[in-house]
Amino acid sequence: MSLSLDPEINELKQLTHYVKEKYDYDFKEYAMSSFKRRIKRILDLYKFKDVDELITALDTREEFFEEFISEITVNVTEMFRDPTFWKALKEHIIPNIMLNHNKISIWHAGCSSGEEVYSMCIMLKEMGMLDKAKIVATDIDRGIIQKAKNGVYSAKSMDTNKKNYLRYEGKFALEDYCREVNNEVLMDKSLVENVSFRKHDLVQGSSFSKFDLVLCRNVMIYFNQTLQNKVLHKLHDSLFKYGYLAIGSKESLIWCDIAHKFVVVNNEEKIYKKIKD
Ligand SMILES: C[S@@+](CC[C@H](N)C(=O)[O-])C[C@H]1O[C@@H](n2cnc3c(N)ncnc32)[C@H](O)[C@@H]1O
Repeated sequence: MSLSLDPEINELKQLTHYVKEKYDYDFKEYAMSSFKRRIKRILDLYKFKDVDELITALDTREEFFEEFISEITVNVTEMFRDPTFWKALKEHIIPNIMLNHNKISIWHAGCSSGEEVYSMCIMLKEMGMLDKAKIVATDIDRGIIQKAKNGVYSAKSMDTNKKNYLRYEGKFALEDYCREVNNEVLMDKSLVENVSFRKHDLVQGSSFSKFDLVLCRNVMIYFNQTLQNKVLHKLHDSLFKYGYLAIGSKESLIWCDIAHKFVVVNNEEKIYKKIKD
């Protein structure tokens, strides 16, 4: 198979400009190196000679745009990803929120195929709090949101999920929350009865509600610093005062211009608390 050449910066600029004008999605401030890798992958996968051919496909086949979005975004995720993070939620963060409330509102921003959401629901159920929770789960990728809603995963992917759940020290077994049919695992849908799965773009969309806890994990890692800063403003806006923000283990907000509006609650697990409006 002949592979495409690496896309040039000016070609990437032309592409992001085109996508913004035609589809109103803005990838201009995504981190350049990973964005470039994803575009190169699309060129090779669809056998486009160059970025011009990709633009022509986007122009002539609007239905291709959803595939393009799925290819641009990185959807890697796991249940109970970073088990010590989930332990911190279970032992400190959720009990702290519930000290002053009898309800809890949670936003999963960039929820991918939903493993993070099912983890949250399993954790809350084991804490006897699932019926007190209102959860919104969003992602820019419509296809991946549908996958999250369906809650059907490959049996193979469950190996990692089960290991994570064990390390998290869940009360039961992950198998208690799903059943296996033909090499696929079907999650128990009653877990996500109170979850609203929606498409939402963190770049173009605005904050739409207030939450006690916002998880935006392993999403901003694909944005440049300017965009991370803008998105962190929206996440801050979306939190009640004294609400909690959780980001990915390789992410940070200490350098951003609203860092002083948060305190660090758990530095290893990247959990912050909003202390100023
Ligand atoms: C690597 S996954 C992270 C999934 C999960 N939060 C976790 O930590 O396992 C990143 C997700 O961010 C989503 N994403 C990327 N850009 C986005 C944007 N502008 N708005 C909302 N979601 C976005 C992607 O579609 C992808 O599903």
